[in-house]
Amino acid sequence: MSTKNDVLAILEESRNLPVSGNDIANKLGLSRASVWKAVNSLKQDGYSISSVNKVGYTLLPNNDILSREGILPYVNDLNFFSNLQVFNTIQSTNDEAKLQAITNKANGICIISEEQTAGKGRLGRSFYSPAKSGIYMSVILRLGYDIEQNLLITSAVSVAVCRAISKICNIECNIKWVNDIYIKNKKVCGILTEATFDFESKSLDYIIVGIGINVHSTAYPEELQDIVTALSEHTSEPILRCNLIAQILNELQIVVNDLTDKTFLTDYKNKSCVIGEKINVITPNQTYLATAIDINDNGNLIVKNDSNEEIILNSGEISIRKC
Ligand code: BTN
Repeated sequence: MSTKNDVLAILEESRNLPVSGNDIANKLGLSRASVWKAVNSLKQDGYSISSVNKVGYTLLPNNDILSREGILPYVNDLNFFSNLQVFNTIQSTNDEAKLQAITNKANGICIISEEQTAGKGRLGRSFYSPAKSGIYMSVILRLGYDIEQNLLITSAVSVAVCRAISKICNIECNIKWVNDIYIKNKKVCGILTEATFDFESKSLDYIIVGIGINVHSTAYPEELQDIVTALSEHTSEPILRCNLIAQILNELQIVVNDLTDKTFLTDYKNKSCVIGEKINVITPNQTYLATAIDINDNGNLIVKNDSNEEIILNSGEISIRKC
């Protein structure tokens, strides 16, 4: 870590409270001049740091710059998420995670970026990922569960994200099966889960869970304007993305541990905006009207078509007028 990162870590740990230049210098074995230089460089990066003579440096509460140092103080289990990387810009955090998964066999590697230049959505779509307004993160999971249990991860992650948003922003979200997160009929978060199968062990080698959240309102491309929303549009409180990311990781760890006993499914069903609704089921071959009846213990959507036949959907795409 650089001196600048070390200084930032100390300031982040006591966010909104002054730390004297002397204390920082002693802790890090540096001169006060080096601390001053590091603080100035952080200010140039955009951090709001107040410097008051004889009091010290204070990282002000409104900073919303993504950094490892800003996230780690809020992560409960630093052993699970020991490898957390923050990029300024990247093509896709999922693609970077895939690359790293080839050489690094660890569980819980987390890749985060301020922006994505080629963010990926489900079904080959793109995911709009402008700088400073969203959360774009991917986590590599190696859970060792059987395939059936691993398939539940998609639903489990959406519950984890909803719980984190509720705790940090006090906003209640809905889940549109399988794992789109909505607020008042507009999408606020998409999740892209990718996995590789290992033929030797006949099990999944790793899963990559990619989460994209619109946090601060921004100028969306025309085609998105009516269908997406940002968290900031639903609260008057400032949202600090570092806190939210850390909480997502904390909640993710909880649902991953719950994957075998499936306790998260209660929340998944309670948050569903689909059950009881008329929907369009979109398959590669056809689109048909149906009514969503329930979600079963495997996270599958049970629907009834116009001929009153029950159909169990385990993947795919649905559209719904209200969510
Ligand atoms: C969807 O809504 O279709 C899924 C969107 C998933 C977007 C996230 S952002 C972080 C991660 N990296 C990507 O390229 N995509 C996922």
